[in-house]
Amino acid sequence: MRAARFHRFGPPSVLRVEELPPPRPRRGELLVRVHAAALNPKDVLVRAGSRFAAASRPLLPLGVAEDFAGVVERSDDPSLPVGERVYGMLGYFRFGAAAELVCAKREELAAMPASLDFHEAAALPLVGLTSLQALRDDAGLRAGQRVLIHGASGGVGTHAVQIAKALGAHVTASCSRANHALVRELGADAVHDYRERPPSELDARFDVFFDVYGNQPFPKARRVLTPRGRHVATVPGPSTFGWAFATTLSRRRARVVLVRPRRADLDALSAMVARGQLRPVVDRRFPLDAIAEAETYLETKRARGKVVIDVATSPER
Ligand SMILES: NC(=O)c1ccc[n+]([C@@H]2O[C@H](COP(=O)([O-])OP(=O)(O)OC[C@H]3O[C@@H](n4cnc5c(N)ncnc54)[C@H](OP(=O)(O)O)[C@@H]3O)[C@@H](O)[C@H]2O)c1
Repeated sequence: MRAARFHRFGPPSVLRVEELPPPRPRRGELLVRVHAAALNPKDVLVRAGSRFAAASRPLLPLGVAEDFAGVVERSDDPSLPVGERVYGMLGYFRFGAAAELVCAKREELAAMPASLDFHEAAALPLVGLTSLQALRDDAGLRAGQRVLIHGASGGVGTHAVQIAKALGAHVTASCSRANHALVRELGADAVHDYRERPPSELDARFDVFFDVYGNQPFPKARRVLTPRGRHVATVPGPSTFGWAFATTLSRRRARVVLVRPRRADLDALSAMVARGQLRPVVDRRFPLDAIAEAETYLETKRARGKVVIDVATSPER
């Protein structure tokens, strides 16, 4: 099978598409023929060796991508039999979805929403799960509350805007002015251009501040939080974990989302898609052989939605 991999950390040019033996599913795993995969900033960070390098060096050569959509080729799970169209994300620091075949644990995949193409379905798992788990679980977002989403036009943000609306919230989207029309179309009630004024200096007050981009730290953001407001960061590190720990017993609390694969949550995303509340936002598609170009584009941090890799040579619905 063909798979994107790298043997050393470095720029996108270290990425290769190689011929490998097909993977063999272990007990509790399904084998999936991948039609499309999607990239996330973590792919860039790991490949560049800038973060997680110490943890991932012993694992070299490493595969690329966690998100996938495809067709089950081998299964011992009666709820997802051979031939079922599935989507999901690899968890626990496993990469390698940008490959013709991938082994996934049961919790990591679910039946694909019927209305989506493979490339749309591949765009959804990691960013949809991140948004759902951050807003519903870490922030406890409830209907009628006000949420600010900073970084609203990227991979996570475009889906977080829709999921916050599906949860019944009033959504303020913070992104560049050029993307205000996009986030309004996705359901944002109000828009803010962070280049004019940092969102943590707004006059409004928010029940939830979802700092998707990662440059609005809790000590600044707390001034725009309501007295029991929650701040959720996406970038794990000593400071974000420190604020979370320090505010455990406070009225205003900080949290760090750590996305985890969960079939029930993928099913919840599928239900939102079926109800017309959520649609994957795909910015660009690249063929597997252009994996280096795809990561070069993601590295610009200007993606409007997701960067998707077409793995199957003749993509079908
Ligand atoms: N902890 C977790 O479980 C978890 C899960 C998923 C993602 N993440 C992290 O979440 C972050 C966002 O991920 P993503 O997939 O949304 O990334 P992305 O798609 O690469 O984000 C691109 C967006 O970043 C915005 N941006 C660029 N510079 C900015 C700035 N200076 N201030 C504010 N926004 C800026 C751009 O918006 P404009 O062009 O409109 O300015 C663009 O739309 C990454 O750090 C990722 O690693 C963490």
